[in-house]
Amino acid sequence: MSVRAEFDAWAADGRDRGMEDRHWATAKHALGRMPVEPGDVVLDLGCGSGYAGRAIRDTYDAGTVYGLDGAPKMAENAASYTDDPQVGYVVGDFGSLPFATDAIDHVWSMEAFYYAADPHETLREIARVLRPGGTFYCGVNFYEENVHSHEWQDRISVEMTRWDAGEYREAFRDAGLHVAEQDTIPDREVDIPDESAFPTDDWERREDMVERYREFGTLLTVGVAE
Ligand SMILES: C[S@@+](CC[C@H](N)C(=O)[O-])C[C@H]1O[C@@H](n2cnc3c(N)ncnc32)[C@H](O)[C@@H]1O
Repeated sequence: MSVRAEFDAWAADGRDRGMEDRHWATAKHALGRMPVEPGDVVLDLGCGSGYAGRAIRDTYDAGTVYGLDGAPKMAENAASYTDDPQVGYVVGDFGSLPFATDAIDHVWSMEAFYYAADPHETLREIARVLRPGGTFYCGVNFYEENVHSHEWQDRISVEMTRWDAGEYREAFRDAGLHVAEQDTIPDREVDIPDESAFPTDDWERREDMVERYREFGTLLTVGVAE
């Protein structure tokens, strides 16, 4: 199934808002580190409900925020959640970004980058659209070290790239992005029940759930354009 078909179905089911709720616990910490200045142009890649771009507009007084998504229904939903004229949503693909060279100050992407058909091509596109010194904040929960995420590929028809932290750094550098920082952001908010509640529908063992959320969390890699 295509990105469009898969994620249009998610958006039609209201899963765009569900993702927002799940991702916010770690995304907000990464968003809080972005060096966005008033007036900056920011691009949210794979924006889903668009919550991150709207938060960037509201908290940093960014000039223009674009949310790009390959699923038209996602972009349509995102547009319906705001009447801010400086936030815009476009339908597009990670492989060919519809922006001029050096046009963007900062790129954000949460839980979306690994769906790129060719992640190296996407990184080159990000490096192209970023102005020199611009940053790419890339958050993923699906990565090699997070063994609890590996089964996600079985649940979705879109091919996913599962890199480890070192592969992210190497790929960023290959595309011309200096790696300014990389770490994991734990989710301290998700409710982890007492031992007596296990096994649950989703988790066999409490220690696995603790590891997934409190130890691994979101892998954040930050690149800076040359
Ligand atoms: C798991 S959702 C994450 C949405 C949002 N960033 C969040 O944190 O909730 C991934 C999003 O990326 C979009 N996406 C996946 N592959 C894409 C591609 N190749 N080009 C454009 N958008 C894509 C999907 O349509 C979907 O809305």
